[in-house]
Amino acid sequence: MSRTVITGGLVVTAADEIHADVLVEDGRVAALAAHGSDAAAGWRAGAATLDATGKYVIPGGVDVHTHMELPFGGTFASDTFETGTRAAAWGGTTTIVDFAVQKQGQALREGLDAWHAKADAQCAVDYGFHMILSDVNEHTLKEMDGLVEEGVTSFKMFMAYPGVFYSDDGRILRAMQRAAGNGGLIMMHAENGIAIDVLVEQALQAGRTDPRHHGEVRKVLLEAEATHRAIQLARVAGSPLYVVHVSAEEAVAELAQARDAGLPVFGETCPQYLFLSTDNLAEPDFEGAKYVCSTPLRPREHQAALWRGLRTDDLQVVSTDHCPFCFTDQKELGRGDFSRIPNGLPGVENRMDLLHQAVLDGHLTRRRWIDIACATPARMFGLYPRKGTIAPGSDADIVIYDPEARQTLSAATHHMNVDYSAYEGKEITGRVETVLSRGETVLAGREFTGRTGHGQYVPRGTCQFL
Ligand code: URP
Ligand code: ZN
Ligand code: ZN
Ligand code: ZN
Repeated sequence: MSRTVITGGLVVTAADEIHADVLVEDGRVAALAAHGSDAAAGWRAGAATLDATGKYVIPGGVDVHTHMELPFGGTFASDTFETGTRAAAWGGTTTIVDFAVQKQGQALREGLDAWHAKADAQCAVDYGFHMILSDVNEHTLKEMDGLVEEGVTSFKMFMAYPGVFYSDDGRILRAMQRAAGNGGLIMMHAENGIAIDVLVEQALQAGRTDPRHHGEVRKVLLEAEATHRAIQLARVAGSPLYVVHVSAEEAVAELAQARDAGLPVFGETCPQYLFLSTDNLAEPDFEGAKYVCSTPLRPREHQAALWRGLRTDDLQVVSTDHCPFCFTDQKELGRGDFSRIPNGLPGVENRMDLLHQAVLDGHLTRRRWIDIACATPARMFGLYPRKGTIAPGSDADIVIYDPEARQTLSAATHHMNVDYSAYEGKEITGRVETVLSRGETVLAGREFTGRTGHGQYVPRGTCQFL
């Protein structure tokens, strides 16, 4: 039996902050006891000790929105499951939920098998899958039931990207009806892609080809409208709804109204919407391409509504939507035509730190930091309390976090396989020091000690908020 004791730290979970020692046995949390108590002292014999004095002891991050190796716009997201999960570990994230893709004309099974082939035996930390539905028909609707049974309990659909991932309202309604019956959760990319494509064409014809026009055509109103429509479709179907990457104040208002009415509607936002803005998209010399993602970055004024939504629980989760494309050889595909810039930003390594900085900046409490980054995403996607907390029986996915270390985010020092940082030069107080994944040390005092293939596939239960 392997035993490790983490001593002297402040254990922070979504529920509590306690000065406690944590006993880890065989990959799981065995017990917590007050620091200095006889019980805690008794654990020391024959155990490895990790000293967390002056540090936080927090659950490993749960990032429920990543796209390793996603095919998009004729290229692939530049992080593989191997490089992307290693970067996740560096950043204190010990579980990712990535998106397997059903291509049009494919069965769900084919898509899921393809994503297992990419990920299995490659990951440094644990991983699960959502399924992207891009071809809803009688066969795929039946397949959804089987996927829920085997632990793929959530399905992303797109009101955007006509001709690629897009589903019309009828297909969305059918999938929601199926999810209402089988316990699945529909995750919605809420933007009116049909209207956006008209505006894209008009912009390009008028010679407005720079990255900043990506933000201008993907209008706030078209995010709010799609969010509203998705909520009404879910009501008609009697299904819950989770809206991904919410960026606009007006979309938050739609979620708030639905939640005030008691509907099972949930929302996530991402660090890029909380820390970046259209000012970045407008950076000269095509630098704005680094910040092209959908939904797009918004004017800075929207950030206050996102922070408020996170505090009031109108937004429940912060995920990264990690979907990196190199600036030099991938974002470049859209020089002279913003609609060809592959969509997505890197960030899987930065989320826990950026949100800790948000605690220092007064946007969040420490416990809310852990709630939106660990506990609630785990509950939302059927992983709790195995993931997302530090409690007897939980997987020993634990981060020792130094709240006083200072760092500067940079592509020169990050571990993501991408040639730029969206947060280049940003100063952060706080840093991940040591990371355990199921009791194994994968990062030890800023030295990577993990290995490819340590990460296990995690079948998930259904949403635990229903
Ligand atoms: O720009 C983004 N978000 N790229 C990833 C695909 C998606 O829509 O989540
Ligand atoms: Zn999306
Ligand atoms: Zn995404
Ligand atoms: Zn590259």
